[in-house]
Amino acid sequence: MSTYAQELRATAQAMVAPGKGILAIDESKGTCDRRFEKLGIPTTEERRRTYRELILTTPDLAEFISGAILFDETIRQSTQAGVPFVQVMQESGMIPGIKVDLGTKDLAGCQGEKVTEGLDGLGDRITEYYQMGARFAKWRGVITIADDIPSETCLVANAHALARYAALCQAGGLVPMVEAEVLIDGEHSIERCYEVTERTLQIVFEQLRLNRVELDKMILKPSMVISGSNCPVQASIEQVAQMTVNCLRNNVPVAVPGIAFLSGGQSNEHATAHLNLIHAKFGTQCPWTITFSYARAIQQPALDYWHGDDANIPIAQQLLYHRAKLNGAASIGHYSSDME
Ligand code: 13P
Repeated sequence: MSTYAQELRATAQAMVAPGKGILAIDESKGTCDRRFEKLGIPTTEERRRTYRELILTTPDLAEFISGAILFDETIRQSTQAGVPFVQVMQESGMIPGIKVDLGTKDLAGCQGEKVTEGLDGLGDRITEYYQMGARFAKWRGVITIADDIPSETCLVANAHALARYAALCQAGGLVPMVEAEVLIDGEHSIERCYEVTERTLQIVFEQLRLNRVELDKMILKPSMVISGSNCPVQASIEQVAQMTVNCLRNNVPVAVPGIAFLSGGQSNEHATAHLNLIHAKFGTQCPWTITFSYARAIQQPALDYWHGDDANIPIAQQLLYHRAKLNGAASIGHYSSDME
């Protein structure tokens, strides 16, 4: 048993406190810069810092956000006034989290598939992040659907890395968010997404057990069961909610305290509506607390409005607060589209 057992359990519970979810702002430098470039925002460390300050100092954000996932550059940064971001979060009641994977690389021998890297030296990095104030971590495995993929090779390689990461986190005092993202990209049907998500979860939990990860001290971060973005037939909100809940019920042990979805390229409104219906219609069928851990589906309106111009910060913060509030409501089944 981890020497941090009690703390890990308490952190995991706090991450999925009722009416709250996680805000992912852990875009790597490359991903953040790509999003800035699309809007013509200079891709400098200072602009990235200002954007993250905008987010983390949004008034009352902690009403709906239990914790935020930071990137390595961000966890070392401070506000313009010199207050470390970690301290800003601690003072406003948000738990600092940290992305610890080092991104995806092509998986040798498996065309079109990726594996996530970052295990070497991870134990030492976890120790450093814990000392800096982080209390949970994230690692993202990516599964692509196409005609002949995912391969079993890819599923096992990613699940193994996730499990090794999760075990190291628990040994070092960080609650692991175990993120297995089945990508929305492609023409596949929702039924095919179900099949792949099911197999992914089965292998992830096999590997978590094999690597002695304590299931009551982790958070699962899955994608929803959803139609491929280019599938000619798009499943209804009801179908997504029902099939997602079925897939989780059949494949996620009840010992897991919380499930926090990624948004994965869904529209803002869909990400919120799906989460809401999962609660409103199927909540009583779920033994775990279910919430959100969204990046794009919370940040996008604020990023678009800010556009790199600091005169826009107050309204961008209002837009961020609004999306967080809607998702907070959805996480207890209290959202309706007229709140948009
Ligand atoms: P999205 O909600 O934009 O999918 O991001 C969540 C995340 O953390 C991706 O790793």
